Amino acid sequence: MFSKFRHTGEVATQDELLFTTPFGYMFPDAAHSASHLLPESPETLTALRQLGDAMASDVIAAPNDSDIPAMFTYLGQFIDHDLTARTDRESATSTLGRGEPVTPRDPDEVVAHLRNGRRPQFDLDSVFGDGPSLAQGSETESDTLYTPDFHLHVFNPTATRRDVPRGPSRGAVIADGRNDENPNISALHCAFLLLYNKIYDAQVAGTPACKHIRARQLTRWAYQYVVVQDYLPTVCDQAIVIDTLVNGPRYYGNTAGHGQNFMPLEFSTAAFRFGHTMIRPEYRLQTTEPTISVMDLLGPSRPDVNGDPIGTFFDTTDAVPHQLRDSAILDFTLFAGTGPNVQMARKIDSNIARGLGMLPLGDRQGDPILGHLAKSNLIRGYSLSVPTGQACCEAMGVKPMSRKDMADGESADVAAVLTDTALGQRTPLWYYILREAGAQAGGNHLGELGSRIVCETIVGSLKTDPNSYLNANDLAVTPLGINVGGAVISTLTELLNHAGVGPVA
Ligand code: HEM
Repeated sequence: MFSKFRHTGEVATQDELLFTTPFGYMFPDAAHSASHLLPESPETLTALRQLGDAMASDVIAAPNDSDIPAMFTYLGQFIDHDLTARTDRESATSTLGRGEPVTPRDPDEVVAHLRNGRRPQFDLDSVFGDGPSLAQGSETESDTLYTPDFHLHVFNPTATRRDVPRGPSRGAVIADGRNDENPNISALHCAFLLLYNKIYDAQVAGTPACKHIRARQLTRWAYQYVVVQDYLPTVCDQAIVIDTLVNGPRYYGNTAGHGQNFMPLEFSTAAFRFGHTMIRPEYRLQTTEPTISVMDLLGPSRPDVNGDPIGTFFDTTDAVPHQLRDSAILDFTLFAGTGPNVQMARKIDSNIARGLGMLPLGDRQGDPILGHLAKSNLIRGYSLSVPTGQACCEAMGVKPMSRKDMADGESADVAAVLTDTALGQRTPLWYYILREAGAQAGGNHLGELGSRIVCETIVGSLKTDPNSYLNANDLAVTPLGINVGGAVISTLTELLNHAGVGPVA
């Protein structure tokens, strides 16, 4: 079933795929030019491993907080799961694990064989799946997500106890299993289930199927509006957000002359993985609970010997032992808004939390590359022939950082890799974008190249989609936000409050 979708395991294609759409390169000329790629050699692989180790050494003593509330990290992960999937599937096209040699793949082979398991649109296919079936007698894979009256199933017996629906094995029954990888993302997924149900209940006219279509549309538009007006200005350079919205994307989407929509590998394999540095090493889920390390937070999706999730977030004596226990239900006031106790995301820079070098995720655990988030990002980019940071700068007319710019102020271990290896001149895109954010924006948002690639992809996707709010002529789309019936939503805080998981100040 499609909720098996995870970062782990080699699930058979037919088991996990609802959609297949193309990957491509935003800069295909660079991907086909050896001098615009990392040098193909065993030394490059060694240098990438060294860089990964140095990035995950967590030598910074201070908390390394940014100005960004922590829920934006998980809104980012939620967006990722709505748009893109399967660059990390171990396959002939992309092999990192199990000690096999890693060599860069021919870009044409990558585009021909690697398939995205998501539609690259902000359509919440990760929430709605391909359902429900609207014609009498027909079936969809996603029917199990819905009640007979077109609500999405959610576990919400009291105002504060809420969770994504789970089966007896505790695994979430949702359209993308990755949205149950940690309690922070599953709480946000749950908020979207509640939001849709509330918008559905506000519909007064039409058959249940018509109400569903309208409520789904309004939920999508509210989410899209929040992405454009709140998320992008928070994580990107605001001038670049405005430029891309006003003048249109120049390298991606219809306005850039691409006929077919595709997911750019520069985004999914590098630029949008910037969110990995925002992950804190620990979180407090509730005011009265102790902090929990990120390693333990990833526990619920850790499979036991039967492949079922285990973890510390369930209580076998509970009346409903397969749903999260009370103390694991996330208090959103600790993650979003401007309240005094909000935890902040870590800075967007080249230093990632130490636990992420030892991912406790299923069969990744213990693997020297797949079990290490920095190394898997760096080496995935190498194996999928993603152009270097400098090559992307050249393609977008952005002045690249010099080797010295990058090394100055870096930890001694990272600086040594930049100085002593070829990576200082042909720099992996993921690292480049993080270093740029640290150097240009103090880690509080992406720098020039990172902002451009992220804005191009997100705004390009929305402008290309005839059903997005940017292309809608509808009274619900107002200059102040999306009128979902009973509320106008323009920010993440408003979205959460309308879903009923607040009040977030
Ligand atoms: C605790 C939080 C997170 C964990 C444990 C996690 C883990 C992972 C792992 C293991 C991969 C596959 C790596 C590979 O082998 O290539 C991955 C891919 C990815 N991650 Fe994360 N991630 C987290 C949060 C985020 C956030 C916050 C963002 C963005 C804001 C993000 C964006 C991505 C993207 C774009 C991909 C590629 C998806 C695809 O296959 O197309 N992740 N993540």
